[in-house]
Amino acid sequence: MNILKEKNKILVTGASGFVGSNLVPRLEKEGYTVTGLSSKDIDFSEIKPVYFPKCDIVIHLAAMTNIIKCEKEIIKALAINGLSCAWLTFNSNMKIIYLSTDQVFDGEFLPKNSYTEYAIPNPINWYGKSKLMGENFIKQREENLILRCGKIYGDKIPWVDKLVSDGKQVYSYIDQTRSYIHIDELCDKIVLYLKDDISGIKHIPGVKMNRYNFIKTYYFATKPVVSSTTEHGKLSPLNTSLRSVR
Ligand SMILES: NC(=O)c1ccc[n+]([C@@H]2O[C@H](COP(=O)([O-])OP(=O)(O)OC[C@H]3O[C@@H](n4cnc5c(N)ncnc54)[C@H](OP(=O)(O)O)[C@@H]3O)[C@@H](O)[C@H]2O)c1
Repeated sequence: MNILKEKNKILVTGASGFVGSNLVPRLEKEGYTVTGLSSKDIDFSEIKPVYFPKCDIVIHLAAMTNIIKCEKEIIKALAINGLSCAWLTFNSNMKIIYLSTDQVFDGEFLPKNSYTEYAIPNPINWYGKSKLMGENFIKQREENLILRCGKIYGDKIPWVDKLVSDGKQVYSYIDQTRSYIHIDELCDKIVLYLKDDISGIKHIPGVKMNRYNFIKTYYFATKPVVSSTTEHGKLSPLNTSLRSVR
C-alpha cells in the first residue's frame, strides 16, 4: 500500500522538543503535510479531556521527560505522559505512533543482556511508570505502534550543553548501560515504520554503551560517578539496553 498517498496528514505532538524539531522537517521533506503542536497549542497537564485537529496519523512525542520532575510532580507526569494517550486513543480515530522509552524496564538485567519487545516492563521511576501507563492506552487499538528507544543524541547532547553553559559539573554513571541512537537514525526509522504501516511494539536500539564512556566521547571533562551516590542515579535503572527481535 502506498501509505503516503492514502495517509498524508500527520499530527505531531511535542513538535517543539528535541525529537519533534528534528522529525517535523524530516516528515515535510518526505512529502507529508504536518501539523505540529507544542504545550501552547494543547496542554496535557490539565486533567480534562482533550480533542485534536483531524489528521490521518498522530506521532505522539509530547511528554514530561525530566525524571526528577516526574518524581516531584507525579500527577502532572501521569496526565502528560499517560492520560494524553487516553485522549488520543478514545477521542480521535487517528492511528497513533507513540515514542516510549527504555525506562519502562527495571534495569536489573546483567550488563551483557538487553530487553526485547517481549520483555515484561517493570518501571522503577515515575517517568517510566507514566510512559507505561501511556503504552497501555495506546495498546487498546491494534493498529497503533509503540516505539521504544534509549538515549537519543544529535551532533550535540542538549542536556550536557545546558549543564556546561550553566557552569555545572557534568557527572556520568560508570555503572549504567544504555542504548544510544542518533536523532537522524531515529527519524529514518520513524519514517520507515510510518510508510510500512507497522503496528504493535518495536524497539529501536542503536548502540549499546556504558553511560560514562558515551558522555566522555562528547565531553572529555565529565566525571565518573556511581549511581547510588546521586538522587538522579538512584532513580535510574542500571542496564536498560534494548534489542529488537521483530
Ligand atoms: N530524548 C530522549 O533521549 C528520549 C528517549 C526515549 C524516549 N523519548 C521520548 O521521546 C519523546 C520526545 O522526547 P524529547 O527529548 O523531544 O522531549 P523534550 O525535548 O523534553 O520535548 C518535550 C515536548 O513535549 C511538550 N510538552 C511538555 N509538556 C507538555 C504539556 N503539558 N502539554 C503538551 N505538550 C507538552 C513540549 O512542549 P513545549 O516546548 O511547549 O514545552 C515539547 O514539545 C518523549 O515522549 C520522550 O518520552 C525521549
